[in-house]
Amino acid sequence: MSDLPKLFDYTGAPERASLRSSLYGQDILSVDQFDRETLNFVFSRAHEMREMVERLGASDLLHGSILTCLFYEPSTRTSASFIAAMERLGGSVIPITQGVQYSSVSKGESLPDTIRTLEQYSDVIVLRHPEIGSAKVAADYASVPVINAGDGAGEHPTQALLDLFTIQEELGAIDGLQIAMVGDLRFGRTVHSLTKLLMQYDVSLRFVSPDILRLPLTLMNQIRDLGVNARESHDVSDVIETADVLYVTRIQKERFTDMAQYDEVKDLYEITPDLMQRAKERMVVMHPLPRVGEIHYAVDTDPRAAYFRQVKNGMYVRMALLAAVLGKA
Ligand code: NCD
Repeated sequence: MSDLPKLFDYTGAPERASLRSSLYGQDILSVDQFDRETLNFVFSRAHEMREMVERLGASDLLHGSILTCLFYEPSTRTSASFIAAMERLGGSVIPITQGVQYSSVSKGESLPDTIRTLEQYSDVIVLRHPEIGSAKVAADYASVPVINAGDGAGEHPTQALLDLFTIQEELGAIDGLQIAMVGDLRFGRTVHSLTKLLMQYDVSLRFVSPDILRLPLTLMNQIRDLGVNARESHDVSDVIETADVLYVTRIQKERFTDMAQYDEVKDLYEITPDLMQRAKERMVVMHPLPRVGEIHYAVDTDPRAAYFRQVKNGMYVRMALLAAVLGKA
């Protein structure tokens, strides 16, 4: 037994205890699984994780648990933050992140077989894969929880959770805000997941993209059906003065089949210090990263540039999620 303080004490808090069981043992495949109550639960745990890390650096909450990080697509932040999250909670990681080409995948092993092998060693599997729906397939085969770390152009639920957590941390609340998303709204899975989460709040949404990269119609229809205040545009100038959050994204080159089309849109948007002069004093610029030119480096010193704080929040949110899924929250 360590002498580190207990992170979670549910005595006298039955509603929190029941929320604990709502994530315990669950796969995390889509943001559709999260209602506002569960979001508040995750965010308050993430807060506690931040406090714990700032005070102590680490805890032994997940000591003895093993996470497998299985990444079929490149990643810096998502894989590193899951690894850091697990290790700061005293758990261990099997990292298959630096090249699935060195694993039996290169010999032709199927996703179900790889999953059924890795679950023999681990308590939870984090998967990134280029195909939409792959996380669901993996979860159907796995008996341990599977966390979707991006399934092609589908969803990226843990990124959306950390994005929403960041908005709340930076601006104090989510209701009442105008959130503008800029860039590749068609292939950007982080945009899809964040938009779905934001539909649960009283927000107005602005979508800025070229025609070929508009938000998928199914999502746009859901927004309209819910009566959410939403508008589309081609130009950042239309939103820069009113946005409370400017959520900028990379044009997803790897999802294009026609490179001439990519070349037409790749340099359309760049957030510059000049543009920032027109923005509200109290607003934030976010980006899931990596950026490839959409935000000028000179914007980084602007206190409204929140993208590196957003990175750190990712670790706290993933700590909260891992603890919850493994029944320690
Ligand atoms: C994003 C992703 O992989 O979807 N990055 C991330 O997870 N932080 C965004 C991107 O690749 O553009």
